[in-house]
Amino acid sequence: MSDDTGYVRVLSLGELEEDTPKRVEVGETPISLVRTEGEVYAIHDICSHAHVSLSEGEVEDCQIECWLHGSSFDLRTGKPSGLPATQPVPVYPVKIEGDGPDAAVLVSVTQES
Ligand code: FES
Repeated sequence: MSDDTGYVRVLSLGELEEDTPKRVEVGETPISLVRTEGEVYAIHDICSHAHVSLSEGEVEDCQIECWLHGSSFDLRTGKPSGLPATQPVPVYPVKIEGDGPDAAVLVSVTQES
């Protein structure tokens, strides 16, 4: 279900554990959802260096680390902080609707930034 801004409800806030990435799919787009430091971020789930799922990596300081070769990507911008990855991965806007654990987490993959 998507509204006219392209936001799609993916899960409830209560399903996201702090600093534990969760892979979801919006249409054909794999996304790693991360709840950290009071915010929820949506970043494309595939590393820009090789075909590896970022949701299997660790989260620290608003970055997600690719477990294979160790590049970290900023959850706000998608930019890598170090080699071997040199290209950013897409990040997507997130909206939270409602309160508490039942609040809806919505992502728009049509507004890639
Ligand atoms: S596959 Fe992610 S840094 Fe190499």
